[in-house]
Amino acid sequence: MARARALSAAAGALALAALVTCHEGAADSTAGVAPTDVAQAGDAPDTRPPWQRIDVPSLAACGICHLAVHDEWEASLHHRAWTNRNVRDETGDFAQAGCRPCHSPMPVLATGLDHAPKFRDFNQPDGVHCLSCHGLADGVAAARDLPDAPCRPKYTPAFLTAQSCWPCHEPTHHAFQEYDRSDAKALGLRCADCHMPPAADRPGRSHGPNGGLNPDFVKRALAWSCALEGGDVVVTLRNRTGHRFPGEIPSRIFQVRVDVGGEEPRYVTFRKPGKTETRADDRLDVNETKTLRFPVAADAKDVRVTLLFKPFPLLPDEAAFRIGEWSPPAK
Ligand code: HEC
Ligand code: HEC
Ligand code: HEC
Ligand code: HEC
Ligand code: HEC
Repeated sequence: MARARALSAAAGALALAALVTCHEGAADSTAGVAPTDVAQAGDAPDTRPPWQRIDVPSLAACGICHLAVHDEWEASLHHRAWTNRNVRDETGDFAQAGCRPCHSPMPVLATGLDHAPKFRDFNQPDGVHCLSCHGLADGVAAARDLPDAPCRPKYTPAFLTAQSCWPCHEPTHHAFQEYDRSDAKALGLRCADCHMPPAADRPGRSHGPNGGLNPDFVKRALAWSCALEGGDVVVTLRNRTGHRFPGEIPSRIFQVRVDVGGEEPRYVTFRKPGKTETRADDRLDVNETKTLRFPVAADAKDVRVTLLFKPFPLLPDEAAFRIGEWSPPAK
């Protein structure tokens, strides 16, 4: 029954989505169209308000009116938290019950911002649903009150703090133990100030993808410079994120590659060790500036430094994100 409703709501959403596109992303382009109007004939209409629709896909619950936000979220890992291959492999397709709650969560504002969320035992493929973050008992959490909008946005101070990311990002992966020591936090930057920058093509904040799968976003992580000093190539790296770099997700790798003439390339690799590895965690620490020196012969030719970010461990260099490149200026 719930499934039939979900499917019909999704079908309705698609029909309405087609309608909405002629008014490019404006939420009020659907003013006057109640979600119930789009339910298919022969099926009981879903008369519930949007904030109660956590059992239907985010597209049907919210995306019908917030299509641009939906499309950003859909491309992010929040949407894929239940379906992505890495997670399914590591959790044995979620046979491990302890792994389920954050990958298919109930609304964190309802369960509390100081502990892990409750498992949402339905509509799991939606991952971190719009309502996992926005859901209130009688509306949606927002930066202002809009009592006349169909989803009843409510000004919710707790939702606008970094703590709203805590229930999922701290209990197992300790993002906040790093963030709490960061210059970013001292400067008053929240997680969302970096991870939800202003959207490029509409008012409001981007819902993704703003993480390790977006090369333009990854470039923001580092300030760097290179120079030739007394026979050494000197590479200086400064971590500008609010946590270690690479952040949190263990499959991400950062490498400095130095090529000199026809020699074998030299690498320095930064990554989080796997659970069974004895390797040290050599990622850049919060706020850290690190200097690397690579001796080169005085007559060395074709010196080149490349900064590589690999979202997946076995990626060849050609497929990595190039977040920086440098060669000494010609003499
Ligand atoms: C039937 C259409 C409709 C649905 C469904 C809907 N909304 Fe809205 N939403 C609106 C309108 C209209 C506004 C007001 C837009 C404005 O004034 O800029 C709004 C405003 C908002 C705001 C505040 C925006 C701001 O400018 O501060 C948030 C947050 C929001 N919606 C989230 C959601 C979420 C989450 C869902 C799904 C649970 C949802 N909405 C479902 C139509 C809808
Ligand atoms: C307290 C919330 C929470 C719980 C419980 C949780 N996770 Fe996660 N998981 C996250 C968050 C947040 C991320 C994204 C950031 C990160 O990797 O730390 C994530 C990311 C992952 C990733 C990386 C996904 C990718 O895109 O590569 C894997 C794999 C993963 N989790 C597996 C597990 C396993 C296995 C368990 C159970 C032992 C588990 N998770 C339990 C919150 C949680
Ligand atoms: C990971 C948590 C999270 C998820 C998931 C999420 N949002 Fe948001 N949303 C936020 C935050 C945080 C803000 C910005 C608050 C601020 O202004 O600082 C926001 C802002 C908004 C706004 C206000 C306008 C804007 O773009 O800034 C709308 C509308 C909105 N979200 C709708 C949605 C919809 C629809 C979905 C699902 C497709 C969704 N959100 C999923 C956290 C989330
Ligand atoms: C209800 C749980 C939950 C909340 C709240 C939450 N996240 Fe996440 N987040 C996750 C999970 C789970 C993943 C990992 C998904 C995966 O990789 O499978 C994730 C992944 C991410 C990623 C990687 C996304 C990408 O597309 O590369 C970023 C960045 C992120 N979260 C930032 C935030 C920020 C900022 C907030 C607060 C505004 C927040 N999250 C709130 C559960 C949550
Ligand atoms: C000053 C900006 C900044 C702040 C503040 C910040 N981050 Fe990040 N974060 C980044 C950048 C840039 C990256 C991409 C490079 C990397 O992997 O570290 C990143 C990476 C991540 C990732 C890995 C995403 C992926 O797909 O690999 C997660 C998860 C994440 N951040 C969560 C958080 C959370 C949660 C907070 C708040 C506690 C936070 N970040 C605060 C800039 C920031």
